[in-house]
Amino acid sequence: MNVLVFDDNEKLNEAGANIIVSLVQTNPRAVLGLATGGTPVGIYEQVVRMYKQGLVSFRNATSYNLDEYVGLPEDHPESYHTYMRRHLFDHIDLPADSAHLPNGNATDPDAECAAYDEMIERSGQIDLQLLGIGHNGHIGFNEPDTDLVRGTHVVTLAEETRKANARYFDAIDDVPKQAITMGIGSILKAKTILLVVRGADKAEIAKRALTGPITTDVPASLLQTHPRLTVLLDRAAARHLS
Ligand code: PGA
Repeated sequence: MNVLVFDDNEKLNEAGANIIVSLVQTNPRAVLGLATGGTPVGIYEQVVRMYKQGLVSFRNATSYNLDEYVGLPEDHPESYHTYMRRHLFDHIDLPADSAHLPNGNATDPDAECAAYDEMIERSGQIDLQLLGIGHNGHIGFNEPDTDLVRGTHVVTLAEETRKANARYFDAIDDVPKQAITMGIGSILKAKTILLVVRGADKAEIAKRALTGPITTDVPASLLQTHPRLTVLLDRAAARHLS
């Protein structure tokens, strides 16, 4: 595990963007695993800046997002389809048909999940998976449980997750109750993983995930088993790590 701590969030964003951009520079056909939420916004801003400087092209790259809400229209302002367009896809040259997110409105969600895993498999697996972490240790929407699911699946969101995401909606009742998420096995199959953790409110879970026992109660703790994990933290999130 390679752990880097930053005093300055801008420097963290640059480091995260550099990892993504360097990969695509050396392997223009790279398969990127992308994340949503507050955590990656600044990293995407830097990726867009580097793209606009002509340093990188995503023309031949492919992306797969971790998750999408079930039942939210694709063009809803808080859908992850919309988030990705707003923060990244509208600003770079990644072809629309190379940018994949699960379809949260699929009439047959199980078939959608199986098809998503098959597509990732056919792409030759994810070269770099970007991840945030929830306060309860979830990655993607893999919530703490006695068993974790290997492949892409429909999940019922933890109340804590719906509360955390209510800040983006008018009311908590508007937050969808379910999502489609890549499973823990799909995430761990990525060739490299980039976990980003920011803020004092994530310090406790960062410590449990990175130094605590490997347990399905903290899904992110399974990342300790990955041979190529890089973790970027700001100083506040790293304060319980020695
Ligand atoms: P956040 O969410 O980046 O908005 O904190 C992370 C997550 O829930 O995985």
